[in-house]
Amino acid sequence: MRLIAPSILSADFSRLGEEIRAVDAAGADLIHIDVMDGHFVPNLTIGPDVVKALRPHTKLLFDVHLMISEPERYIDAFAAAGADLITVHQEVGVHLHRLVQMIRARELKAGVSLNPATPAATLEDILDELDLVLVMTVNPGFGGQRMIPGALKKITRLRDLARNREKPLLIEVDGGITPETIGRAEAAGADIFVAGSAVFRAAGDYRENILALKESPPADSP
Ligand code: DX5
Ligand code: ZN
Repeated sequence: MRLIAPSILSADFSRLGEEIRAVDAAGADLIHIDVMDGHFVPNLTIGPDVVKALRPHTKLLFDVHLMISEPERYIDAFAAAGADLITVHQEVGVHLHRLVQMIRARELKAGVSLNPATPAATLEDILDELDLVLVMTVNPGFGGQRMIPGALKKITRLRDLARNREKPLLIEVDGGITPETIGRAEAAGADIFVAGSAVFRAAGDYRENILALKESPPADSP
């Protein structure tokens, strides 16, 4: 089953609580929250106070994608704000293991994200510590970009690296997911599909848009 994580980056920022309730009612499986610092990526978005304000609007899991430098400074704040899953980028620093332990110590699910140019193999020695890997299929920073198809190969490599794990590794894919591209990401081995513009900016209502992602035809290969 395809799990859909609407990215609120493409929602109406003047009505975020309402938007979250609407995608929850429309069949979203988790809520993807893109946190950007204007440093690790060239855009600025939302911080822990906004996450906290949104928490009462849904019981769905908050999937917090930290596109920020020095994420260790903010893990506690996002944990206290109500994050369920915190994902940091592999590229942010040299002490990824310590960062992942920080997240796990707060009894949250821990994820690591890979930019399009970062190889899957860089996670080989930390994979057992992770609940999830988030594969970027665009360069992070903005919604509405086209998928970089070459990045899908990484999902298959991660599946392969994780094949001997005791608990299943969740693989989430982020960037340019539409009813046309989702089948290929699924064929590569992804379980969770982030979708910003395909949910919030496509022609249908949110239920139709989520259904279009869940039910578009499977692909034979990535
Ligand atoms: C990009 C963000 C994505 C973004 C996806 O940096 O991490 O989550 O919102 O947007 P779409 O689905 O429009 O590519
Ligand atoms: Zn994201």
